[in-house]
Amino acid sequence: MPSYEEDYQLSLEQPEVFWARAAKGISWSKPWDRVLNADNPPFYRWFEGAELNTCYNCLDRHVEDGRGDQAALIYDSPMTGQVKSFTYREFTDIVARFAGALTARGIKKGDRVLIYMPMVPEAAVAMLACARIGAIHSVVFGGFAPKELATRIDDAKPVAILAASCGLEPGRTIAYKPLIDEAIRMSTHKPETVVILQRPECQAQMTAGRDFDWQEIAAAADPVPCVPVAATDPLYILYTSGTTGVPKGVVRDNGGHAVALRWSMKYVYNVDPGDVFWAASDVGWVVGHSYIVYAPLLQGCTTILYEGKPVGTPDAGAFWRVIQDHKVKALFTAPTAFRAIRQQDPDGKFIGKYDFRNFDTLFLAGERADPDTIIWAQDQLKVPVIDHWWQTETGWSIGANCMGYGMKPVKLGSPTFAVPGYDIRVINEADGRREVARGEIGAIAVKLPLPPGSLPTLWENDAGYIKSYMADIPGYYKTGDAGYIDEEGYLFIMARTDDIINVAGHRLSTGGMEEVLAGHPDVAECAVIGIHDALKGQVPVGFVVLNAGVNRPPTEIEKELVALVREKIGPVAAFKVALVVKRLPKTRSGKILRAVMRKIADGETYNAPATIDDPAVLTEITEILAAAGYPSGK
Ligand code: COA
Ligand code: AMP
Repeated sequence: MPSYEEDYQLSLEQPEVFWARAAKGISWSKPWDRVLNADNPPFYRWFEGAELNTCYNCLDRHVEDGRGDQAALIYDSPMTGQVKSFTYREFTDIVARFAGALTARGIKKGDRVLIYMPMVPEAAVAMLACARIGAIHSVVFGGFAPKELATRIDDAKPVAILAASCGLEPGRTIAYKPLIDEAIRMSTHKPETVVILQRPECQAQMTAGRDFDWQEIAAAADPVPCVPVAATDPLYILYTSGTTGVPKGVVRDNGGHAVALRWSMKYVYNVDPGDVFWAASDVGWVVGHSYIVYAPLLQGCTTILYEGKPVGTPDAGAFWRVIQDHKVKALFTAPTAFRAIRQQDPDGKFIGKYDFRNFDTLFLAGERADPDTIIWAQDQLKVPVIDHWWQTETGWSIGANCMGYGMKPVKLGSPTFAVPGYDIRVINEADGRREVARGEIGAIAVKLPLPPGSLPTLWENDAGYIKSYMADIPGYYKTGDAGYIDEEGYLFIMARTDDIINVAGHRLSTGGMEEVLAGHPDVAECAVIGIHDALKGQVPVGFVVLNAGVNRPPTEIEKELVALVREKIGPVAAFKVALVVKRLPKTRSGKILRAVMRKIADGETYNAPATIDDPAVLTEITEILAAAGYPSGK
């Protein structure tokens, strides 16, 4: 086995050699002409000329290799009281039939298909069935509202929507069909077909001619084989928050994605074929795409699809039960899940009740892993707790303690080292884009080319790809995170450099929320900032200045604003606090001082910039925040 250091050097100095070696883990129907086409930077193409099918590599291939009777996916749903296991053979058959049902509806290679599903096995079936026939899926997280769905429909222009009748949240059933109908009403592009999985908890009303019953069309269909696609063809589009209300359609290709994800299972997670891997996330997020569905199946593992929460379904021992019952080797979740468990069970009383014999490692990502949470998890679980850093854009980790090479000493607060394939640099943008010294904070960038699996572009938006990621630091991909690398090469990710916030591991745009607040008829101007929250890491708080002459009680308007964000973006925005203020703090050139407001709300010391227009505004903001209970203490 090569060392991390040898492989890291090789991946930077001879990326073609490194990734051609990794590509042996994938079954190709046609070999590549070139491992990397770097002729047209910043657009790089991996495995050009090659053909493969991602679904074949996730399913059929393992049946052919003798894994047919092994569990491919275990659905564990404390929300419905069900546990169901599907072997590779069974799951291949289900996916092949559903792919047949899509083909029978005229859906074909290159068509886009929007998936709006809760955490049920059919969500994975839908994704893999699209992959099987070369259709490009775009999964939208169930916590997003119709307007967000409509934006994605208009951008991806799907021919079909695959959905369930409802999602289940503790204490409430969310009927999805009215949300879909509303989204289609709002969108300019109209998908021709809607396929609905009727769940027993809620029956959807169907529109004749457009809507089809999932079970009926699947039962009537014949299984279809995998369609070979180009390595460079898109597998999926996943929309993620940008700096405005318009989300960015991150494109993932087939070939590079399959190679990088399978490689990551061994080298990042140290998980082998046959092992049980559990990513406690949602298929609507990148973690769900990569590590609930694609990577574990590419590696021939058993993946867990969990419909529940870390607490309350039924208690703070929920995760430990799943680990025990399904012999989970590695768990991947967001630190917020552990903060929720710790809050309810600080002494880990539930942990002692379960068998952890098969459990090896806990992986955390999605937000900064605070040292307190890591220490608690280490003490309680007595396994390595590995922080790793990545983004929707990259699709797999940029920085990690790569467990497949042997664990490096953990430094709290650091996701350890750059992962092979990522040439990470810290840049001072204000000072001639120079690389900073070790220990100095700057913008974190990755020298191009990005490794396989990372986004080749944005959906039908090459210009947006350049503008968002490539233009500021030519020759580099700008991650949008700030941080530093210490003397020993350990990475520290400190904050976003844009207005993206991370709420319970969910990526949200404060700019998008500002657009919603600004749409309220009484609002003259507004600012939304992410402030510290002991459970969710960050939560948004909105400040609004009302139009002159508005005489309604501010509390009434504040309530309307909270409801408006929930309606327009969705409950996942977790927008619960809007505060009416007389003025917003600004520089003389009119720039709102959001960073200063955040520091006041978090109780941090701050320096008002010399360019501030009127320092008295900061006193007003401090008083209003104090009246609302901020800073609330950490
Ligand atoms: N469909 C509809 N609504 C949803 C939803 C979905 N799929 N997922 C969440 N919501 C709703 C929640 O019910 C909540 O609604 P409420 O305002 O009526 O209470 C709201 O969106 C906010 O959700 P969330 O921020 O997740 O808060 P929570 O209090 O429900 O749960 C945690 C907090 C920590 C338990 C939860 O965030 C969690 O399990 N996180 C695990 C980590 C994770 O999944 N990370 C994702 C990326 S790795
Ligand atoms: P998402 O695209 O939703 O995966 O969010 C990506 C962003 O989450 C990153 O740009 C970081 O800001 C943050 N993030 C993810 N993982 C980590 C981590 N391990 N440490 C610090 N921040 C993280």
